[in-house]
Amino acid sequence: MAWGMHMVTITIDGIRLEVPEGKNILDCALDGGIYIPHLCHHKDLSPLGSCRMCIVEVEGRDGIVPSCTLKAEEGMAVTTRSPEIERLRMLALELLLAGHPEDCSTCPKYGNCELQTLIQYIGPKTGRLKMRVKGFKPQENNPLIVHDMNRCVLCGRCVRACNELRGVKVLQYQKKELETFVGTLHGRLLMDADCRFCGACVEVCPTGTIRDKMEQRGTKEEAAVPCRAACPAHTEIPRYI
Ligand code: FES
Repeated sequence: MAWGMHMVTITIDGIRLEVPEGKNILDCALDGGIYIPHLCHHKDLSPLGSCRMCIVEVEGRDGIVPSCTLKAEEGMAVTTRSPEIERLRMLALELLLAGHPEDCSTCPKYGNCELQTLIQYIGPKTGRLKMRVKGFKPQENNPLIVHDMNRCVLCGRCVRACNELRGVKVLQYQKKELETFVGTLHGRLLMDADCRFCGACVEVCPTGTIRDKMEQRGTKEEAAVPCRAACPAHTEIPRYI
Protein backbone atom coordinates (compact mmCIF):
# COMPACT_ATOMS: atom_id res chain seq x y z
CA MET A 1 0.00 0.00 0.00
CA ALA A 2 1.37 3.40 -1.02
CA TRP A 3 1.85 5.98 1.74
CA GLY A 4 -1.29 8.05 2.30
CA MET A 5 -3.52 5.79 0.22
CA HIS A 6 -7.04 5.60 1.60
CA MET A 7 -8.33 2.05 1.75
CA VAL A 8 -12.01 1.07 1.46
CA THR A 9 -13.84 -2.22 1.93
CA ILE A 10 -15.83 -3.64 -0.95
CA THR A 11 -17.28 -7.06 -1.83
CA ILE A 12 -17.03 -8.74 -5.20
CA ASP A 13 -19.29 -11.79 -5.58
CA GLY A 14 -19.53 -11.82 -1.79
CA ILE A 15 -15.74 -11.82 -1.29
CA ARG A 16 -14.54 -9.01 0.98
CA LEU A 17 -11.58 -6.99 -0.26
CA GLU A 18 -9.62 -4.04 1.13
CA VAL A 19 -8.70 -1.87 -1.84
CA PRO A 20 -7.45 1.65 -2.50
CA GLU A 21 -10.32 4.08 -2.88
CA GLY A 22 -10.84 5.00 -6.54
CA LYS A 23 -8.99 2.00 -7.96
CA ASN A 24 -10.93 0.45 -10.82
CA ILE A 25 -13.02 -2.56 -9.82
CA LEU A 26 -11.59 -4.80 -12.54
CA ASP A 27 -8.04 -4.41 -11.21
CA CYS A 28 -9.33 -4.80 -7.64
CA ALA A 29 -10.93 -8.10 -8.63
CA LEU A 30 -7.93 -9.40 -10.58
CA ASP A 31 -5.51 -8.42 -7.82
CA GLY A 32 -7.81 -10.17 -5.34
CA GLY A 33 -7.77 -13.38 -7.40
CA ILE A 34 -11.27 -12.93 -8.86
CA TYR A 35 -11.45 -13.30 -12.63
CA ILE A 36 -13.65 -10.92 -14.61
CA PRO A 37 -13.40 -11.32 -18.40
CA HIS A 38 -11.80 -8.29 -20.06
CA LEU A 39 -10.29 -7.32 -23.37
CA CYS A 40 -9.76 -3.60 -23.91
CA HIS A 41 -8.33 -3.15 -20.41
CA HIS A 42 -4.62 -3.40 -19.72
CA LYS A 43 -3.16 -2.64 -16.33
CA ASP A 44 -0.52 -0.28 -17.76
CA LEU A 45 -2.98 1.76 -19.82
CA SER A 46 -5.81 4.16 -19.01
CA PRO A 47 -9.25 2.52 -18.87
CA LEU A 48 -11.38 2.78 -22.01
CA GLY A 49 -14.53 0.75 -21.28
CA SER A 50 -15.23 -0.12 -24.91
CA CYS A 51 -15.37 -3.91 -25.21
CA ARG A 52 -18.05 -4.49 -22.51
CA MET A 53 -16.53 -7.83 -21.50
CA CYS A 54 -15.96 -6.75 -17.90
CA ILE A 55 -19.51 -5.65 -17.13
CA VAL A 56 -20.83 -5.97 -13.57
CA GLU A 57 -23.75 -4.92 -11.41
CA VAL A 58 -23.49 -2.79 -8.27
CA GLU A 59 -25.99 -3.31 -5.50
CA GLY A 60 -28.37 -0.37 -5.15
CA ARG A 61 -27.51 1.09 -8.56
CA ASP A 62 -29.37 0.80 -11.84
CA GLY A 63 -27.79 -0.72 -14.90
CA ILE A 64 -24.83 -2.86 -15.82
CA VAL A 65 -21.50 -1.09 -16.16
CA PRO A 66 -17.91 -1.89 -17.21
CA SER A 67 -15.84 -2.68 -14.11
CA CYS A 68 -12.68 -1.25 -15.71
CA THR A 69 -14.10 2.27 -15.51
CA LEU A 70 -15.89 1.80 -12.17
CA LYS A 71 -14.08 3.27 -9.17
CA ALA A 72 -14.04 1.55 -5.80
CA GLU A 73 -16.05 3.23 -3.04
CA GLU A 74 -16.58 2.26 0.57
CA GLY A 75 -19.21 -0.46 0.99
CA MET A 76 -19.65 -1.19 -2.73
CA ALA A 77 -21.13 -4.65 -3.41
CA VAL A 78 -20.32 -5.88 -6.91
CA THR A 79 -21.71 -8.90 -8.76
CA THR A 80 -19.78 -10.20 -11.75
CA ARG A 81 -22.16 -12.96 -12.87
CA SER A 82 -25.93 -13.00 -13.42
CA PRO A 83 -28.12 -14.17 -16.30
CA GLU A 84 -28.41 -10.60 -17.60
CA ILE A 85 -24.66 -9.90 -17.34
CA GLU A 86 -23.92 -13.15 -19.14
CA ARG A 87 -26.47 -12.42 -21.87
CA LEU A 88 -25.01 -8.97 -22.55
CA ARG A 89 -21.44 -10.20 -22.33
CA MET A 90 -22.14 -12.93 -24.84
CA LEU A 91 -23.81 -10.47 -27.20
CA ALA A 92 -20.80 -8.14 -26.97
CA LEU A 93 -18.45 -11.02 -27.77
CA GLU A 94 -20.58 -12.17 -30.68
CA LEU A 95 -20.48 -8.66 -32.14
CA LEU A 96 -16.68 -8.68 -31.89
CA LEU A 97 -16.44 -12.10 -33.49
CA ALA A 98 -18.74 -11.12 -36.36
CA GLY A 99 -15.90 -8.90 -37.58
CA HIS A 100 -13.06 -11.29 -36.86
CA PRO A 101 -11.79 -14.01 -39.24
CA GLU A 102 -12.52 -17.59 -38.20
CA ASP A 103 -9.09 -18.93 -39.13
CA CYS A 104 -7.67 -18.73 -35.60
CA SER A 105 -5.78 -21.98 -35.89
CA THR A 106 -3.57 -20.57 -38.66
CA CYS A 107 -2.92 -17.34 -36.78
CA PRO A 108 0.56 -16.96 -35.23
CA LYS A 109 -1.13 -15.91 -31.97
CA TYR A 110 -3.02 -19.22 -31.83
CA GLY A 111 -2.93 -20.58 -28.28
CA ASN A 112 -1.79 -17.23 -26.91
CA CYS A 113 -4.70 -15.04 -27.84
CA GLU A 114 -6.89 -13.23 -25.30
CA LEU A 115 -9.87 -13.42 -27.63
CA GLN A 116 -9.56 -17.21 -27.65
CA THR A 117 -9.56 -17.17 -23.86
CA LEU A 118 -12.77 -15.17 -23.84
CA ILE A 119 -14.38 -17.51 -26.36
CA GLN A 120 -13.56 -20.40 -24.07
CA TYR A 121 -14.75 -18.65 -20.94
CA ILE A 122 -17.94 -17.13 -22.34
CA GLY A 123 -18.73 -19.76 -24.98
CA PRO A 124 -20.60 -17.61 -27.50
CA LYS A 125 -23.41 -19.02 -29.59
CA THR A 126 -22.05 -19.16 -33.13
CA GLY A 127 -23.76 -18.26 -36.38
CA ARG A 128 -26.35 -15.85 -34.94
CA LEU A 129 -24.76 -12.80 -36.51
CA LYS A 130 -23.74 -12.25 -40.11
CA MET A 131 -19.96 -12.30 -40.57
CA ARG A 132 -18.39 -9.11 -41.85
CA VAL A 133 -15.24 -9.38 -43.97
CA LYS A 134 -13.06 -6.31 -43.50
CA GLY A 135 -10.76 -6.92 -46.46
CA PHE A 136 -7.68 -5.06 -45.21
CA LYS A 137 -4.34 -5.84 -46.82
CA PRO A 138 -1.94 -6.91 -44.03
CA GLN A 139 1.14 -4.67 -43.79
CA GLU A 140 4.13 -7.00 -43.92
CA ASN A 141 6.74 -4.60 -45.34
CA ASN A 142 7.76 -3.02 -42.05
CA PRO A 143 10.80 -4.16 -40.11
CA LEU A 144 9.99 -6.29 -37.04
CA ILE A 145 6.19 -5.83 -37.04
CA VAL A 146 3.27 -7.29 -39.01
CA HIS A 147 0.07 -5.22 -38.90
CA ASP A 148 -3.07 -7.12 -39.92
CA MET A 149 -6.19 -5.07 -39.28
CA ASN A 150 -8.45 -7.96 -40.26
CA ARG A 151 -7.80 -9.47 -36.82
CA CYS A 152 -8.37 -6.23 -34.89
CA VAL A 153 -11.15 -5.98 -32.30
CA LEU A 154 -10.65 -2.23 -31.78
CA CYS A 155 -9.71 -2.59 -28.13
CA GLY A 156 -7.54 0.50 -28.59
CA ARG A 157 -4.68 -0.85 -26.50
CA CYS A 158 -2.11 -0.20 -29.26
CA VAL A 159 -3.35 3.37 -29.72
CA ARG A 160 -3.09 4.06 -25.98
CA ALA A 161 0.33 2.39 -25.76
CA CYS A 162 1.66 4.37 -28.72
CA ASN A 163 0.18 7.69 -27.58
CA GLU A 164 0.03 7.62 -23.77
CA LEU A 165 2.74 5.19 -22.80
CA ARG A 166 5.38 6.03 -25.42
CA GLY A 167 4.19 9.46 -26.63
CA VAL A 168 5.08 8.50 -30.21
CA LYS A 169 1.56 9.13 -31.58
CA VAL A 170 1.96 7.09 -34.75
CA LEU A 171 -1.05 4.78 -34.33
CA GLN A 172 -4.45 6.47 -34.48
CA TYR A 173 -8.06 5.54 -35.16
CA GLN A 174 -8.81 5.97 -38.86
CA LYS A 175 -11.91 5.56 -41.04
CA LYS A 176 -12.37 3.73 -44.32
CA GLU A 177 -15.95 4.16 -45.47
CA LEU A 178 -17.95 2.70 -42.56
CA GLU A 179 -15.04 0.75 -41.12
CA THR A 180 -12.99 2.13 -38.22
CA PHE A 181 -9.47 0.83 -38.03
CA VAL A 182 -6.12 1.57 -36.43
CA GLY A 183 -3.42 2.90 -38.69
CA THR A 184 -1.08 5.75 -39.44
CA LEU A 185 -2.03 9.13 -40.82
CA HIS A 186 -2.48 8.94 -44.61
CA GLY A 187 -2.07 5.17 -44.52
CA ARG A 188 1.71 5.31 -44.43
CA LEU A 189 3.77 2.29 -43.55
CA LEU A 190 4.94 2.31 -39.93
CA MET A 191 8.54 2.79 -41.07
CA ASP A 192 7.54 5.93 -43.02
CA ALA A 193 5.50 7.35 -40.14
CA ASP A 194 8.21 7.87 -37.50
CA CYS A 195 7.46 4.57 -35.76
CA ARG A 196 10.33 3.71 -33.43
CA PHE A 197 9.51 0.01 -33.39
CA CYS A 198 9.61 0.03 -29.60
CA GLY A 199 7.24 -2.95 -29.60
CA ALA A 200 4.75 -1.51 -27.08
CA CYS A 201 1.84 -2.08 -29.49
CA VAL A 202 2.97 -5.68 -30.04
CA GLU A 203 3.20 -6.22 -26.27
CA VAL A 204 -0.35 -5.07 -25.55
CA CYS A 205 -2.21 -6.38 -28.62
CA PRO A 206 -4.54 -9.15 -27.37
CA THR A 207 -4.98 -10.78 -30.80
CA GLY A 208 -2.78 -11.46 -33.81
CA THR A 209 -3.35 -7.98 -35.25
CA ILE A 210 -0.01 -6.34 -34.42
CA ARG A 211 2.61 -8.95 -33.97
CA ASP A 212 6.28 -9.73 -34.03
CA LYS A 213 7.45 -10.75 -37.50
CA MET A 214 9.38 -13.64 -35.99
CA GLU A 215 6.31 -15.23 -34.42
CA GLN A 216 5.71 -18.70 -35.79
CA ARG A 217 2.56 -19.63 -37.62
CA GLY A 218 0.41 -22.48 -36.31
CA THR A 219 1.10 -25.94 -37.65
CA LYS A 220 -1.00 -27.79 -40.21
CA GLU A 221 -2.21 -30.14 -37.47
CA GLU A 222 -3.37 -27.20 -35.40
CA ALA A 223 -5.02 -25.67 -38.45
CA ALA A 224 -7.23 -28.75 -38.68
CA VAL A 225 -8.87 -27.85 -35.36
CA PRO A 226 -11.68 -25.30 -35.74
CA CYS A 227 -10.93 -22.85 -32.94
CA ARG A 228 -14.47 -21.90 -32.01
CA ALA A 229 -15.63 -25.48 -31.80
CA ALA A 230 -12.80 -27.07 -29.85
CA CYS A 231 -9.98 -24.73 -29.02
CA PRO A 232 -7.49 -26.55 -26.78
CA ALA A 233 -5.73 -23.38 -25.66
CA HIS A 234 -5.94 -21.97 -22.14
CA THR A 235 -7.28 -24.56 -19.81
CA GLU A 236 -6.79 -22.12 -16.96
CA ILE A 237 -7.94 -18.52 -16.91
CA PRO A 238 -4.87 -16.34 -16.34
CA ARG A 239 -5.12 -13.09 -14.35
CA TYR A 240 -3.27 -11.02 -16.90
CA ILE A 241 -2.51 -12.74 -20.13
FE1 FES B 1 -13.77 -3.19 -19.45
FE2 FES B 1 -13.27 -3.66 -22.02
S1 FES B 1 -12.25 -4.49 -20.29
S2 FES B 1 -14.93 -2.56 -21.14
